Amino acid sequence: MKKIFFLLLFSLTLVSCKENKPKLLKYGAYENKIDALISKMTLEEKIGQTNLRGVSSRAKILPEDLKESVKNGNVGAFLNIMNLDYVDELQRLAIEESPNGIPLIFGRDVIHGFKTLFPIPLGLAATWDAQIVEKSSEIAAFEASAAGIRWTFAPMLDIARDSRWGRIAESPGEDTYLATILGEAYIKGFQGDDLSNPHRIAASAKHYIAYGAAIGGRDYNTVNLSEPLLRNVYLPPFKSAIDAGAATVMSSFNEINGIPATGNEFLLKDVLRGELQFDGFVVSDWDSVIEMIEHGFARDEKHAGELAAKAGLDMEMTSEAYENHLKELIKENKVTIEELNEFVRNILRIKFRLGLFENPYRNKKHTGNFYAEKHLKEAKKAAIESTVLLKNKNSILPISTKAKVAIIGPLANAPHEQLGTWAFDGEKEHTNTPLLAYKNANANFKFAKGLTHSRDISKKGFKKAIEIAKKSDVILFFGGEEAILSGEAHSRANIDLPGAQEELINELAKTGKPIVLVIMAGRPITITNIIEKTDAVLMAWHPGTMGGEALYEVLHGIKSPEGRLPVSWPKTAGQLPFFYNHKNTGRPADSTSFIPMEKIPIAAWQSSLGNDSHYLDAGFTPHFPFGFGLTYTSFNYSDMSISKNTIHFNEDLEVKVSIKNTGEKDGKELVQLYVQDLVGSITRPVKELKRFKHVFLKSGETKEISFKISSKDLEFVNHKIIKAAEEGTFNLWVGPNAAQGLKTSFILQK
Ligand code: GLC
Repeated sequence: MKKIFFLLLFSLTLVSCKENKPKLLKYGAYENKIDALISKMTLEEKIGQTNLRGVSSRAKILPEDLKESVKNGNVGAFLNIMNLDYVDELQRLAIEESPNGIPLIFGRDVIHGFKTLFPIPLGLAATWDAQIVEKSSEIAAFEASAAGIRWTFAPMLDIARDSRWGRIAESPGEDTYLATILGEAYIKGFQGDDLSNPHRIAASAKHYIAYGAAIGGRDYNTVNLSEPLLRNVYLPPFKSAIDAGAATVMSSFNEINGIPATGNEFLLKDVLRGELQFDGFVVSDWDSVIEMIEHGFARDEKHAGELAAKAGLDMEMTSEAYENHLKELIKENKVTIEELNEFVRNILRIKFRLGLFENPYRNKKHTGNFYAEKHLKEAKKAAIESTVLLKNKNSILPISTKAKVAIIGPLANAPHEQLGTWAFDGEKEHTNTPLLAYKNANANFKFAKGLTHSRDISKKGFKKAIEIAKKSDVILFFGGEEAILSGEAHSRANIDLPGAQEELINELAKTGKPIVLVIMAGRPITITNIIEKTDAVLMAWHPGTMGGEALYEVLHGIKSPEGRLPVSWPKTAGQLPFFYNHKNTGRPADSTSFIPMEKIPIAAWQSSLGNDSHYLDAGFTPHFPFGFGLTYTSFNYSDMSISKNTIHFNEDLEVKVSIKNTGEKDGKELVQLYVQDLVGSITRPVKELKRFKHVFLKSGETKEISFKISSKDLEFVNHKIIKAAEEGTFNLWVGPNAAQGLKTSFILQK
């Protein structure tokens, strides 16, 4: 009795010293149930809860040994079980035949939709719209839960500053503030405000952490960064997701400063548990526990298991270090039973929150309404809002619906490619491609692919394409990348249009017909070589199931392009990594001193070239800046005012700007606010996004926009790992992107 009393007292104290986080109190009842369950579990069962077993989603049989493991309580969760009978049978075995009837969790990568596919996450980021992101995740959860899935390995919150990295496609882009806003929206969308709702699914904030900072944009590669950089750039999106109630976190493949994330006690315990008060469970990425051997951090599988356990990893995805060695490690007192109990406690807490103990089986009546009209409508809306208009010479766009259009290019009718990476469960048969959209609109068009796929180097399709181009009013060239050219393990050193697409565009340009280039890709594509041959460029990312109709409506002005770049668009891969919020350096480049390579005099005197930080052949600016996107109208910013020239700590500064729609069409502007901390105890970025707002203006209409910021928004972590705002002068811009805007300044004073 005494022991139980002590346990109760201990767990209550635990709760109270955990700053009484609302969600923990909300689920406080579970802590007692969890402890009661743990007290009944054998060591083998506890280890079983830490096992996440993977099978191919195309498995044709349910292996007997897997069923046996479930019956013995040796599995805690599965991923990729897509056969509904298998889902039902495995859960039945767990509930009815395992020692304590602990339910399984079924996980899947539901990254940007389940059946109805939304734009890839980088495209969703280009909407800068938290509601769109939340809605897309809610629909994804609704559809996925019909397949018994109650856990997704999303959102991916890795800041990405290098477009060579294949997984930039899955990222929220290069900016921390935007990523924190979207991270919260993903969690709300997937999880709702009650995770026990059977149509919601547990999220997994991934990949913890700084996976996007891999050297050279090469996936899985080494990450070296200072703790201030980690805390100022890479950590905030995870904090935002955890504050929004993220149920799980996934440790990343990469090392950080020599220590793999999966065995990184500082990151998993001190930061995640201690500072962020995360109370869900941490799952490793695929085999990342045993990959610590390849990293040269673990001697063998047993040592890898020990390192992961000591670091505080709760659940092991697919590898079996815990299953094979935890029992022995505990016997050898290298891992304690209390540590294992904590892993189990964290896992059970999420199973309770999911309502799996009361409601373990999927509801066979819940069909998920796959591809329901309202789902497709949201997917189209997201695709429209994600398109970024990069060029529109002489306002050639929008084009008349009566125009004779030549539809050309490898992505014009590529139903699989259009869905993008991590689209496992979306069916290409449902993809609305641009060609299909033009057919359904009974538009006046001819179609010739010109190239069979994005990497096609054969020119045998050129002739037909050129023929239809000559007979058209305008060429719509749908180019870009197949889905497989971005995503996991698919980094590219050269990010030009693959295959013979540039050659085909050059040949089409010879017809003299205007060319509208529509890019479908998982990353910014360097188009420096051919942009002069085009009249307009529209970035559609991989726009998902409804991309065709979305593009038809944008190209013809039924809707306006509303997207803005969530990443800087490079002129050449040689500039990467490239990001707007860079440091000033001691020799910042500027256009007055820069001399491009082609203008350097022969035998120029060595130090006469404006010695500052640039490339002789690529300068120092992006092709298009972060936050950039044209619309079918134009906006003028004027009358900037600030409430005070000096503010004190925790005092608001209000900024006002007038914005006028100076064009013929109604339109939506994304007004962005950036600040620069001119002097800091560590050097500070030249600009940082701190606010943004979508503003709709009718043609000719003017609105006054206001923002409020305070010293809270100016805080950063310095080299002493102190998070604070520092007195001094700040520049502030309000404008349409990171390179333009009205500028003012203010002083922050104690
Ligand atoms: C992969 C990815 C991760 C994904 C997991 C399960 O290797 O890195 O993002 O969720 O395995 O598929």
